Parts: sequence; C-alpha cells; structure tokens
Amino acid sequence: MRIGKYIVLEGIDGSGKSTVGKKIAGRIYQCVLTCEPTETEIGKLLQQKLVGYYDFDNKIAEAERDFALFTADRIEHHQRIKEELKVGNCVLSSRSYYSSIAYQGVDGADIPRMIQTIDYLKSINLIRAPDVAIVIDLPPEEAIKRIEERTRQKFENVETLNKVCKIYDELESYFPKENIRHVDGTLNPTALENTIMDVIKSNVEIVEQS
Ligand SMILES: Nc1ncnc2c1ncn2[C@@H]1O[C@H](COP(=O)(O)OP(=O)(O)O)[C@@H](O)[C@H]1O
Ligand SMILES: [Mg+2]
Repeated sequence: MRIGKYIVLEGIDGSGKSTVGKKIAGRIYQCVLTCEPTETEIGKLLQQKLVGYYDFDNKIAEAERDFALFTADRIEHHQRIKEELKVGNCVLSSRSYYSSIAYQGVDGADIPRMIQTIDYLKSINLIRAPDVAIVIDLPPEEAIKRIEERTRQKFENVETLNKVCKIYDELESYFPKENIRHVDGTLNPTALENTIMDVIKSNVEIVEQS
C-alpha cells in the first residue's frame, strides 16, 4: 500500500497557513487537513487561553506549562496522524512542535530542553518528524495588518512576533536532521500555493489530485 506523507505548514499568525492549507490539501490525493492546537479538550483549552478567555491563576512557569499542554495535545494529534498515514492518507497540518520551539521559546521556555522532550517523545513513537515542514516567512508588520480584522491572540504584536520569526529563521539549526524549507509569505495566494506545491513535490512523493 502507498505510504502516506506527513507535511507541516509553519509560520506566524497571519502568514497564510489556513488559507493556503485548504488549497494544498485539495491538490494532494487523499490528504487530510489538521491543525494544532487541535479540537481535543486540551486543544480547546489552549485555544481559549490564546484568545484570553482562559488563564491560569498564577503565572509561574507559564511557558513550561504551555509547552506541556501543547505537547499533550500534540501526542493526541499524532495518534490520529499515525492512523491516517497507516491507511495511506497524507496529513497536512497547520503547525507542529516547531511552533512550541518558537512561541514557548519566546515566552521563556528553554529551547534545548524542549528539543530533548521532543526527541524523547519521538524515540518512543508518540510523535514523529514531518516528511517536510514548510515555514511561510512573512514580516510581522504585514501579518498584523492581515489579522487586524479578527480577534487578536496572545502573541499577536509586532515585538513578540519579531522574536518568534527569529526562532523560525534559525529552525534548521535546532533540527539539523529534519527537512525544513522556507517560502516567501508575501507572495499572492495563488503564487504561494504553487510555490508550496513545488516544494512539496520536490521533497516528498505525493500523488496530485486529478
Ligand atoms: N498570500 C496571501 N496574501 C495576502 N493575504 C493573505 C494571503 N494568505 C492569506 N491571506 C489573508 O491573511 C489573513 C490570515 O490568513 P490565514 O490563512 O488565516 O493565516 P494563518 O492561518 O497563518 O494565521 C486572512 O485574512 C487571509 O485572507
Ligand atoms: Mg490559521
């Protein structure tokens, strides 16, 4: 049976992951579109926290606690990913553990130690590295302009997003063995979609939807 591929889109809020993700998922044969945080109870709690509807009573070790919660949510997500890949489907996910490195990293969690946890979870097959991860690079000023309309989330200010972008820029150095590619998020939606499709096709074996 054909083996499914796991593809990740990364990038700051407003970089265009959801918009292009829907298009790309439609162009790959048997492709399931997912995202993190997920729709599990933990995922929903995280979504509430990101938009400020929920918060912890105290702020002690907030970044580490967020990392633990995102990780728990991710473990559940990866059970689903595993099942989809097993039956030959592709999974295109908006965000993965790279987001934890970037966002909880900016919030103060220790990046090398988060990577140790990620490596541990990989070693016991609870999570896995994507076949390719594509980072959509976009200047924070542009991203903020795009998302002005919708509810501003916790990290959505230029100063914080600049720090997040810096970590995204250095992602390959944190994960030297992984297949991480960058694309220009300032491209118009069609050009971005085609560029990402080309990156996917040149990095993983997928079947295009006819
Ligand atoms: N390539 C693009 N060029 C210009 N605007 C875009 C592009 N992709 C998405 N947008 C717009 O930017 C906003 C954020 O896009 P979205 O896909 O929700 O980003 P993300 O999922 O990365 O937060 C939306 O209003 C969307 O219509
Ligand atoms: Mg989105």
